Amino acid sequence: MTPRCACGNSFRFATTENFFLFPVGKKTAEEKKKMAESKPAHLEPSKLGTKAYWDALYTTELTTHTSDPSLEGTVWFDDSDAEAKILSYLSPNRDDSDSDNEDDDQPPNPHPHDLTPSTASILDLGCGNGSLLFSLRDDGWSGHLLGVDYSPHSISLAKSIAQSRENEDLKSVEFKVWDVLNGDIPSISPPTGWDLVLDKGTFDAVSLSSETDSLGRRINEGYGERVLQLLKTGGVFLVTSCNWTETELRTWFETSTAPNDGKTKLKMAGRVDYPSFSFGGVKGQTISTLCFEKVVVE
Ligand SMILES: C[S@@+](CC[C@H](N)C(=O)[O-])C[C@H]1O[C@@H](n2cnc3c(N)ncnc32)[C@H](O)[C@@H]1O
Repeated sequence: MTPRCACGNSFRFATTENFFLFPVGKKTAEEKKKMAESKPAHLEPSKLGTKAYWDALYTTELTTHTSDPSLEGTVWFDDSDAEAKILSYLSPNRDDSDSDNEDDDQPPNPHPHDLTPSTASILDLGCGNGSLLFSLRDDGWSGHLLGVDYSPHSISLAKSIAQSRENEDLKSVEFKVWDVLNGDIPSISPPTGWDLVLDKGTFDAVSLSSETDSLGRRINEGYGERVLQLLKTGGVFLVTSCNWTETELRTWFETSTAPNDGKTKLKMAGRVDYPSFSFGGVKGQTISTLCFEKVVVE
């Protein structure tokens, strides 16, 4: 049994208090338009937005793993069972009969089409210890799997874990040091782009950086543009976040601030169900996973 570490709290509490709460009930068309047009307020920068933080964390985790290979480090959002939910969402045999998605105000939940486990090419942005890609490989996703992270220590940890696991198939999962915001795209992309790009907690981390880009924007604002360049047309982006609500994720990736090269854009294609709770007139959930498809602009 792979050891797991539930660690979401420090990440979550490093930001603000109520990112996961949204009012119950339908919004008016005017309210929806306003929300789509306005950028969410930026997060207060924190150490989790710095490379130094991740380098230090993975240095420790690599040392621990070297001394005891059964200890594989942090699996983000394990307390919400995110990996299993993502695997189940991507499964061609997905059963939606127990779907919690009864609220008309929630996005639809279609299957991410055209993803064939034997051939789909999958890129994991900010892969950390590689856990999500190993789970996909274990689950029969036998195509080209690549994990990238800007921390070389995370890549060393992921490679070391692949060597220490019994499943020989894990050794064919590739890992590279690569910065999502500044790395050379052709150096890691198939000619037509990736079928599926994953992000579990990386957009959250980038959103906690105080850095700005050449346009003077906080660097998370250019993230979707990079994802768009990495995807093939018709490919899908599955992003999991504890710091942004579904509405905010849609605003970052799909609407007015969304990346758009004039020919293609990201369009909401589905969502992963997580248990939600209601308290004092608001409905909430701890994390969100949304699926966007790269589509041609009409
Ligand atoms: C919250 S951790 C998530 C790790 C992994 N995805 C998981 O779910 O266990 C965020 C990850 O993003 C990586 N990261 C942050 N900014 C990055 C960037 N600009 N380029 C590549 N990786 C980045 C960090 O090194 C870290 O591994």
